[in-house]
Parts: sequence; structure tokens; C-alpha cells
Amino acid sequence: MATVKTLGQFIIEKQADFPYAKGELSRLLRDIGIAAKIVNREINKAGLVDILGEAGTVNVQGESQKKLDIYANEQFISALESGGECCLVASEENEEVVLLNSKFSKDGKYIVAIDPLDGSSNIEVNVAVGTTFSIYRRKTNIDEEPNESDVLQRGTEQVAAGYIVYGSSTMLVYTTGKGVNGFTLDPSIGEFCLSHPDMKIPEDGTIYSINEGYYVHFPEGVKKYIKYCQVHDKETHRPYTSRYIGSMVADLHRNLIRGGIFIYPTTASNPKGKLRLVYECNPLAFIIEQAGGRATNGFKRILDLDVTEVHQRSCIFIGSKNMVLKAEEMMHEYS
Ligand code: AHG
Ligand code: MN
Ligand code: MN
Ligand code: MN
Repeated sequence: MATVKTLGQFIIEKQADFPYAKGELSRLLRDIGIAAKIVNREINKAGLVDILGEAGTVNVQGESQKKLDIYANEQFISALESGGECCLVASEENEEVVLLNSKFSKDGKYIVAIDPLDGSSNIEVNVAVGTTFSIYRRKTNIDEEPNESDVLQRGTEQVAAGYIVYGSSTMLVYTTGKGVNGFTLDPSIGEFCLSHPDMKIPEDGTIYSINEGYYVHFPEGVKKYIKYCQVHDKETHRPYTSRYIGSMVADLHRNLIRGGIFIYPTTASNPKGKLRLVYECNPLAFIIEQAGGRATNGFKRILDLDVTEVHQRSCIFIGSKNMVLKAEEMMHEYS
């Protein structure tokens, strides 16, 4: 019987990869795992307790906040505050960066960027939602107060990144730059257990994920790529299958396992793209690249994009390498 390896055991084992680390990153990853279990518990009860529906507030994105957006945000921030390794959080749900000032955390070496609840529109209808997070080293000195400049770092500077997908099972998938590993929550012991070691995304795939409701305003290259996906061609296994959940984390997780491409291009209502670079595109791009895939804005690598604002948006083409390359070819030719 294969022995169960928990997230905690795995993190300690892998710490050997970082001889200079004194365990801070390990503890930070464990703190995130703890918050994920607490949020998971509430998501699984959603509908039974008063945690559904609108909070009656609007976030900096102009989106009406769901109660679970706010609950998840509070849980992750308080887990990071008590953990002590993180000194600042940038969150989709907070306009300004949040300084963690407890006596433990103000000297934290790391900062965390987070989308506490991705796919909020799916909560009431019991469809998978997620969390995404990025971890960076703080740039400000330990004797300075951390500030927004600590977040404005390129995706290539990430120390670690990951996501939690609250789906038919709850999984935590993360990378520290040495491959991607997936852990499934075993509720009977309350532990994330290694279930998907060394995850790799197939170089080719037959799934494309895009909200075709916005087709009319898509760039010409995206329209051409969608038509390419729909043409009958036995040799290249087309037409592909269209799958779009409306939670980027869930769409990306399926494509990571099966192969596929997720595209959120520029649209009329989001001329710079809808997804946020710092806490959605960069963490997922880091993971997909570490799993052998590709992530660009159609022209430039996501991880190389300059970060000038915390809530900066970007369009994104992410997934199986050869599918993203094909879509880029059409963007170069037609857009
Ligand atoms: P969030 O719920 O964190 O605001 O993110 C939702 C994002 C992403 O998860 C999803 O792929 C996308 O919004 C769906 O947008 P559309 O409804 O415009 O397709
Ligand atoms: Mn949102
Ligand atoms: Mn999101
Ligand atoms: Mn969100």
C-alpha cells in the first residue's frame, strides 16, 4: 500500500533543494495550506450557512463582492498574519496592499499576491471555484516598512506560486521553480496528500477554453484561431472540444491534466483583457511553464511583462505549448 505523503512532509523533504533556506518558505506554504482547508470547509457548506450571495460591496475591480470572496480573503490574510513569514499581501479584494503588522509578520521575508476566490460567479450554482497565489521575496529592507513596490515585481521573480481548486475534490497545486506537484485534500485526516507528483501538461491538446460570447469583439487572430479549432481535420484531431467553466483555475487545472489552451483575449468591455496579471496570470503562468507549457499575451511571455500596478490586467493565452504557439501564429498574422 503506497504510503501517504502529506503536503507538510513533502515541503520538508523538498526543503533540501534549498540549502540556504531556514524553513520560512516551507512554513509560508504550510500557512497557505491551512487557510485553504478552512476556506474549503466553508465552500463545502455553502448553501447551508449564510455565506452565499452578495456582500453588498464592490471591489476595486468594480465587481460586486460575494460573501465568500470576503470570507476567503479574511482567512488567507489572517493565516499569513499569524504565520509570520509574510509581511504584505496584495489581494484582488483589497484596493491597497495590506501590511501584516503583527509582531510576528512585520519582519516577514516574503510577500504574497492572492486571488482568494477565483470564479466567484460560480459559487451559488455549485460550480468549481479556486484560489491563486504568488510568493515573492520582499524588496524593501527589513528595517523599512514594506510597500506597494514589493508587489510590482515581474513574474520571473516569483519564489513560488500555486492554486487551490475546490472541485469534485479539493486540490492544491504548487511550484517553487523545480516542477509542479499536486495534492488532494483527504477530509478524513484533514491533510493535503501528494496525488499528482511532477505534473506535466501535454504539448498538444484538443480542448480550447474561451468565452465565445464575446466573439464579435475578439481580435482577428483569436477569431481565426477559434475557426481553426472548429475545422474538421482528422490528422490534427480537429474539431477540438470547447470547455469553459468560468473559473480560470478550474479551466486551467483541467487543461494541465488533459492538455488544452485557455484564452482570455481583449474584449470590448475589457480592452486590456479581464484577468489580473499579478495574482491570476503570473502564478498560473509560472505553474504552466514549470509543467512544460507556455503562457503569453499573444506576443510576449506573461512572466516577462512589466508590472506597474497591483490590479493591472492582461490578456492571456496559456496551456499546451503547441496550441499556444498556433494561436500566437494567428495573432501575429491577423491582429
Ligand atoms: P474572479 O472570480 O476572481 O473575479 O475571476 C473570474 C475570472 C476567471 O476566473 C474566469 O475565467 C473569468 O473571470 C470569467 O470571465 P467571463 O465571465 O467574462 O468569461
Ligand atoms: Mn472577482
Ligand atoms: Mn479570479
Ligand atoms: Mn477573485
